[in-house]
Amino acid sequence: MKSNGLFILLAVIITIVVIQGLIQGYQNKWLKEQQYAEFVALQPIDSAWIAPSLYLDRETLGKERAMVMYGQDLVAHTSKYFGPNGSISKITNGMNCQNCHLDAGTRPWGNNYGAVYSKYPQYRGRSNSIQDIYGRINDCFERSLNGKAIDTNSYEMRSIYAYMKWLGKYVPKGKKPYGAGLPPIPLIDREANVIKGKEIYVNICQTCHGDKGQGLLNPNGSEYLYPPLWGEHSYNDGAGLFRLSSFAGYVEYNMPFNVATHAAPKLTIEEAWDVAAFVNSQPRPHIDQSKDWPDITKEVFDVSFGPYTDHFSERQHKYGPFQEIIKAHKTN
Ligand code: HEC
Ligand code: HEC
Repeated sequence: MKSNGLFILLAVIITIVVIQGLIQGYQNKWLKEQQYAEFVALQPIDSAWIAPSLYLDRETLGKERAMVMYGQDLVAHTSKYFGPNGSISKITNGMNCQNCHLDAGTRPWGNNYGAVYSKYPQYRGRSNSIQDIYGRINDCFERSLNGKAIDTNSYEMRSIYAYMKWLGKYVPKGKKPYGAGLPPIPLIDREANVIKGKEIYVNICQTCHGDKGQGLLNPNGSEYLYPPLWGEHSYNDGAGLFRLSSFAGYVEYNMPFNVATHAAPKLTIEEAWDVAAFVNSQPRPHIDQSKDWPDITKEVFDVSFGPYTDHFSERQHKYGPFQEIIKAHKTN
């Protein structure tokens, strides 16, 4: 009899614990949905930026038109000109600008160039200076393409410039159209998880990007069919994608390629952060960043190399959680 009573008591306790767990779970889920709804509500509502069409454009003629077309090809097939077998010079890792700026920088939410001509020159904290379009392009040559800057006066640079100017021809000066640039992603309230990220990578990304993140060259080796995500041919640790928020935002709304869209992402927000943590925990080329952020009070929250003005660790600056860091910066 006595042991029977004890058993019932135990069963009651277990039931209570389980029910509490369930309630907690639902509350957390509700809270997250609430936070996401608030995030979405804060985004401007307008139709997304659409790039002009060269086909319909009857005003851009002669030399200008030739440069715009050449600029577009340089962005789409950069490797052909500047890769390891480049026809102009061999100064990059073999990636194309288009690998990260989809459809030659025209896809809505695909890290496009819709706000380049309208927003540059602009102040940038990383260099603590006013940067023009040429400087910004060379930043991606040196970091995202882990290569060398190209001559600002070269026909190639002037053509990429002409292309970006043409892309932005209908965007009012100073304005950033909806859907332009890198899409923002809501924060998560925990550290991004490398182990969970690896699982996502293996299940979803590996078929295209390779078991060692090495990507896959096309049969004649002139450019990547699937670009590398880490290793010696990938972007270096000073590149935009090495910041977790940039990687997560890009991947959430664009990967798997041609499957995920802004309206219908394939990863949850948490999965995007976790896979970002995994990929950016893998080895990649290093670039000296000792001269970056000369004014450290201007530093963004997810730069993974100190020194910092706050007391948070390099690990937290790299993997989060970021809310406290952002708060500390605001009250500084
Ligand atoms: C490995 C990915 C990657 C590659 C390859 C890459 N970029 Fe970028 N680029 C980025 C990211 C990420 C950003 C946004 C960084 C940020 O906002 O912090 C960016 C930003 C830019 C911007 C500024 C956009 C804006 O609206 O402020 C320009 C211009 C640019 N890239 C040009 C190029 C050019 C030209 C090439 C090829 C020579 C190139 N990029 C190759 C990842 C890449
Ligand atoms: C169906 C094949 C495919 C799958 C699956 C896929 N990608 Fe991609 N990914 C691509 C292609 C192709 C590009 C380059 C697009 C271009 O050049 O137009 C790309 C580009 C990228 C880039 C920018 C370029 C670079 O190499 O740094 C990142 C980052 C990326 N993918 C991450 C991911 C992640 C993370 C996943 C899994 C969640 C994933 N991709 C799944 C095909 C794929």
